[in-house]
Amino acid sequence: MSPLPVLFLYIFTVCVSAACPSQHYDSSGACCSQCPPGEGVTTPCSDGNGTGCTACVPGQTFSNSRSHTEQCLDCTGCGANMKVVSPCNRTHDTVCECSADFYWDEETSRCERCQICPPGFGAVEACSPRQDSGCVACPNMTYSDVDSPSAQCVACTLCTDSQVMLQTCTSISDTICLDKNMPQLIGANVGRTTPADGLLTLKDASGQNIIPVYCSIMGAVVVGLIVYVAVKRWKTCQKPQGTKSGPQGTDVEAQKNQNNDSGVCVDPCTTPSGGKTRVSELSSSRLRDLVFTLSLQHPVNWRHLASELGYDIAAIDEFEQGNNNGPGAAKAFLVHWSRMENATVDNLCQALRAIGRQDVIGLLQECNMGRHLV
Ligand SMILES: *[C@@H]1O[C@H](CO)[C@@H](O)[C@H](O)[C@H]1NC(C)=O
Ligand SMILES: *[C@@H]1O[C@H](CO)[C@@H](O)[C@H](O)[C@H]1NC(C)=O
Ligand SMILES: *[C@@H]1O[C@H](CO)[C@@H](O)[C@H](O)[C@H]1NC(C)=O
Repeated sequence: MSPLPVLFLYIFTVCVSAACPSQHYDSSGACCSQCPPGEGVTTPCSDGNGTGCTACVPGQTFSNSRSHTEQCLDCTGCGANMKVVSPCNRTHDTVCECSADFYWDEETSRCERCQICPPGFGAVEACSPRQDSGCVACPNMTYSDVDSPSAQCVACTLCTDSQVMLQTCTSISDTICLDKNMPQLIGANVGRTTPADGLLTLKDASGQNIIPVYCSIMGAVVVGLIVYVAVKRWKTCQKPQGTKSGPQGTDVEAQKNQNNDSGVCVDPCTTPSGGKTRVSELSSSRLRDLVFTLSLQHPVNWRHLASELGYDIAAIDEFEQGNNNGPGAAKAFLVHWSRMENATVDNLCQALRAIGRQDVIGLLQECNMGRHLV
């Protein structure tokens, strides 16, 4: 073929294409018009009427081409284990991809679940819609302590110079370092030292599990101290005080309690001999504690005690007026009552119990152990 006819043929073709994009003509010889994207052909061109087009239904049908034959197509639905990336509209079909933890498998043409890498294995690539994770055993000095389709092996923590290695890194657990100065676990990647240094440190520490040993010793010391103090106190308070005392011995004992510093306790409410002790015979420090405690801010104070012991409101008010308020009034009342015939410790204890101030009874113990409130 010579160049000239070829050129003519080309020009002819171009001109025809420009005049009739579909390059199709109906029976009458008229060019068939095209439906644009988003519209589908409903009636083919004929008798010079052109092509009949109708808009596609959003979300149901679409057409992505300019055509004189193509109808609207049905939108694709996403398959199992897939999610919609962009919904179907009049010009574009639905775009789907595999859901999280699934990848597209070309062989099965389905979304398959990504491999879950167990501890000791890491994902080569994080699981993605287009790629399986692919698990590999964690190389030296890295570890993975999770079941995961995405987690990669993590570099082991290296203990610093100021730390002791308690446990070497394994493929499933990180190094455990202990600060030499502050006994606390370090879990962060703060290493500057080389693995060799870390191993050396471990040997220096001579033992992998210092923490349990350390805790046991601390625990034993604390428990020992508590037991020691408890036994000491218990013995002190249990030592019988009035073994040789009869009714006549009581006065002598009480006198002793006032003055000596033996560290021996007697509960006046429970000791048979103590109960008949007169309140006036209690040591001055006991009486001072009693007055002080009963005059403290408390819903139940000396006024209630006085009432329980038979004083009427007028009499109680009188104690208060003469001595302002506070310890003075309580003391005046106690001094007054202690002169009464029935002013025994026994009766005082009973009254204190009746008004619900058992806590005050404890103060009546004669211990001489420096248990003073003031
Ligand atoms: C084409 O149009 C004519 C009138 O313009 C009408 O009579 C005829 O039915 C049409 N043909 C088709 C196939 O629609
Ligand atoms: C249809 O969806 C495509 C993406 O699939 C988007 O680019 C386009 O803008 C959308 N058209 C309309 C009219 O929403
Ligand atoms: C990892 O450690 C093992 C044994 O401790 C050794 O045989 C292997 O060569 C090491 N691999 C690398 C890459 O260091």
